[in-house]
Amino acid sequence: MKKVSGQPKTIKFGKISLPVSEIVNDYIPQEQKIVGYKNVLENLAFGVQKNLPTLLIGETGLGKTALIRHLAGQTNNGFRRLNLNGQTTVDEFVGRTLLNKDGTYWQDGVLTDALRHGYWLLLDEINAALPEILFVLHSLLDDDRYIVIPENGGEIVRPHENFRIFATMNPSGKYHGTKDLNKAFLSRFPMIIQLEYPKPEEESLIIQSYSKITPKDANNLASMAKDIRSSYFKDEIDTVCSTRDLINCAQMSEDIGMNMALELSVINRASKEDNKAINTIVKLYFGGRAITTEELSLAQLAKIAYEINDDYEKFEMLMTQSFNDLKSYLDKELLSIDPVKFANLIGFLGVALNTIQASSIKRTSSEKMITRYYEAIKEK
Ligand SMILES: Nc1ncnc2c1ncn2[C@@H]1O[C@H](COP(=O)(O)OP(=O)(O)OP(=O)(O)O)[C@@H](O)[C@H]1O
Ligand SMILES: [Mg+2]
Repeated sequence: MKKVSGQPKTIKFGKISLPVSEIVNDYIPQEQKIVGYKNVLENLAFGVQKNLPTLLIGETGLGKTALIRHLAGQTNNGFRRLNLNGQTTVDEFVGRTLLNKDGTYWQDGVLTDALRHGYWLLLDEINAALPEILFVLHSLLDDDRYIVIPENGGEIVRPHENFRIFATMNPSGKYHGTKDLNKAFLSRFPMIIQLEYPKPEEESLIIQSYSKITPKDANNLASMAKDIRSSYFKDEIDTVCSTRDLINCAQMSEDIGMNMALELSVINRASKEDNKAINTIVKLYFGGRAITTEELSLAQLAKIAYEINDDYEKFEMLMTQSFNDLKSYLDKELLSIDPVKFANLIGFLGVALNTIQASSIKRTSSEKMITRYYEAIKEK
């Protein structure tokens, strides 16, 4: 096709416009969607435009890799990734001398390959890199902007104009096997972007974009994760729940149901010590649904809420949800309900009432609501 103008194509991220490369290569990522993160994308695009090495700091599974893949894909740039987790050697990074029947020859490592061809290189867990690797990176990130390969006859490799370099690390402290990057090294990244887990409203949209679960379930997953993370950041538990875990859970739930999916993707991730706390949080958001199958009692829910903490708002929310479930159940089923189930319901409400009365939670409206239902059901 003939080009109308001689202008190369560009794509905008906020105010920043990036050229779309016309060079085809094997490493251009397939479509990687990003929901939200508008400002982050704009900042990253700015770094790309100005050719600034960029370090992304954030907990696991919140989209660091996805962001760079997305930008690389949209701008038609090759994308390569290397994990520097302490076991990656300089050979893999820079290259090595190999032997064949004609003698020795040089084989580029991932960095050298990316430099020559102008790929975007993402270095994961840079704070776990071996000193030899950091040494190579120093010269690349310094003003010289090249690497020297003594093993290949002192060859100097300068970056192709499309080459960009990104690095990621998890925030220090929580993770084993990582050591803090020293200040001198940090200062070689002119752009540092700190990422937080998305807000529940945003994370719910991310989850929905990967699965067919209902918005209500997605909202519950996102709020549940927020609670787990807040315990994690308060150092109450060592288990965390990432956006990646939530996406997996939502996708699995389409086949095996939400309870089993939660078990496999969230609960089983917890250590023995954290198991109870994680279970309690999960139940807070997903326990309530069972009332519609006449199994789980309001009393149990009340107890869970009471055990968790004195968070009155959460308690109210849970009770309201249970009541709504219970009410629609009753409206539908009351006429045909069998006597045993009916007796159970009365029992459940009675215990719920006792639990609330015995608790220290500010309880007037919950108590009133329960009393109302209790009386209404008993009358039937
Ligand atoms: N804002 C978002 N929009 C779309 N997908 C997202 C978003 N955030 C995270 N994801 C998805 O969540 C999953 C985990 O993201 P990703 O692998 O980028 O995390 P990460 O921060 O690189 O984690 P790690 O530190 O473990 O490497 C991926 O499937 C990714 O596509
Ligand atoms: Mg990653």
